Amino acid sequence: MEYKKLAEMAVEAKSSSHPPYSNFHVGAALLTDEEKVIIGGNIETSSYSLTICAERVAVFKAFSEGERKFKAIAIASDAPGFCPPCGACRQVMLDLCGDIDIVMVNNKNEIKALRLSQMLPYPFGDNELQ
Ligand code: THU
Repeated sequence: MEYKKLAEMAVEAKSSSHPPYSNFHVGAALLTDEEKVIIGGNIETSSYSLTICAERVAVFKAFSEGERKFKAIAIASDAPGFCPPCGACRQVMLDLCGDIDIVMVNNKNEIKALRLSQMLPYPFGDNELQ
């Protein structure tokens, strides 16, 4: 699948978000190696720190459905700039998805793609637990 199409799916996934406190809608579309797409939207609660980002919703949904191999995740918000994943999501994605492409979409539908390892250099991981 072209990343432009995956980016469109991330834009659509914003409608699944529930951010009543920040009103900052984020959508994510995670692409598996078999070209399946699992979407997520950020979900907020009244205890703000319990909020889950759109990326982690998509990753945990995919994992709980048995998906294990991934190519890329697209992330969209309504902001004029690109919406990079937060540090917590970078760690979760590296652990559960590996070194995938991060495809960011701004509100003009422009795309910026980086490798996750470019965004999370010198990471903690399984090697440190041995
Ligand atoms: N958020 C995401 O869902 N993904 C990101 O990449 C950055 C931030 C959410 C968390 C919170 O609901 C809102 O955006 C404002 O931080």
